[in-house]
Amino acid sequence: MADLEEHFERTIASDRRVEPRDWMPDGYRATMVRQIAQHAHSEIIGMQPEGEWITRAPTLRRKAILLAKVQDEAGHGLYLYSAAETLGADRAELTEMLLQGRQKYSSIFNYPTRTYADVGVIGWLVDGAAICNQVPLCRSSYGPYARAMIRICKEESFHQRQGYELLAAMMAGTAAQRAMVQGAVDRWWWPALMMFGPPDTSSPNTARSMAWKIKRHTNDELRQRFVDVTVPQARVLGVTLPDPELRWNAERGHHDFGPIDWSELKRVIGGGGPCNERRIAVRRAAHEDGAWVREAATAHAAKRAGPGGS
Ligand code: 3HC
Repeated sequence: MADLEEHFERTIASDRRVEPRDWMPDGYRATMVRQIAQHAHSEIIGMQPEGEWITRAPTLRRKAILLAKVQDEAGHGLYLYSAAETLGADRAELTEMLLQGRQKYSSIFNYPTRTYADVGVIGWLVDGAAICNQVPLCRSSYGPYARAMIRICKEESFHQRQGYELLAAMMAGTAAQRAMVQGAVDRWWWPALMMFGPPDTSSPNTARSMAWKIKRHTNDELRQRFVDVTVPQARVLGVTLPDPELRWNAERGHHDFGPIDWSELKRVIGGGGPCNERRIAVRRAAHEDGAWVREAATAHAAKRAGPGGS
C-alpha cells in the first residue's frame, strides 16, 4: 500500500495526470466526484435561465445562437457526468442527489432572467467567470476532468463572445436598450463574483484541492482575475459595474473592489435564492418526463446485446 501511496504522491508532485485505473486515496476520489458532479449539475441546471428566452429571441440569428449555447451546456453536463463515471459514480444516483438537495449546483443559476439583456449579461459575465474558473482546470490532476475541460473551455469562449456581442449591439441601440443592459449588469455582477465560491479564509475544500492539484488557484485568486479582465470590457461596452469601491490599485497591480455579501451566497447555496425551488422542480419534471427514453434505450441495448448479453 505504501508503494501505491508513494506512486500517487509522485504523480501529483510531477504534474502528471491521475487516470481512472490508477490507485488514488478515497478522499481524492470523493472530492473529485463531488466537484465534477456539481460542475455537471451546474451545466444542466444552467440551461434553464437562458432556455426561457429561446422562444422570445428577437431574431432568427439570436435564436439560433441561443439554441446552440443551451445545447452546448447540455453537452458539457453529459461530458462531465461521464468523467464522474470514470471514478465509479453512477449518473442516476448523482441526479437523485441533486434532486434531493444532497449535491449542489452553482448559485448563479438561482437568479431570474428578467429581460433579454440578461441573456447577453449571462454570456458575458457568467460564462466569462466560468472561463476564468475552468481554464486552470484544464491542468487539473485528474485526467478525464482536465481533458473534458479543454473541449468545454473552447465552447465557453463562444458563449462569452456571443453574450458580449449581443450587449454591444444593444448598447448601440436605443436609450431603453442601454438601460435594459445596465439593469441586467446591476443584477448579475455581484452574483457572478460569488460563483468563485466563499473567500479563501472560509473555503473548507481549497487547501486540500490545491495540494492534490485538483484546483490550481484559490477562489479569491480566480475572482480577482475575473474582476481584472472584466473591468476594461465594461468600459468598452459603456456600462457601469455596480461597485463604488471598484478602482485600479497600481501598488497591487489589481483592481480593488467592494465587500461581497457572503450571507447572500450562503442563503442561495442553502436553497433560499429567488429561483432555487423552480430550478429543481423543472429539473425533476424533465427527469421524470424522460424516464421512458431511458427505459427504451436500456431495452434496446439489452435486445442488441442478445440473450447471452455482452
Ligand atoms: N454555488 C454553489 N455552491 C458553492 C459555490 C457556488 N457558487 N461556491 C462554493 N460552493 C460550495 C462548494 O461546493 C462547497 O460545498 P460542498 O463541500 O458541499 O461541495 C462549499 O460551498 C465550500 O466551498 P469551497 O470553496 O470549499 O468548495 P470548492 O473547493 O469545491 O470550490 C468551486 C467551489 C470554486 C465552485 C469549485 O467546486 C469549482 O471550481 N468547481 C468547478 C467549476 C464549477 O463547478 N463551476 C460552476 C459553474 S458551471 C458554469 O459556470 C457553466 C457555464 O456554462 C456557465
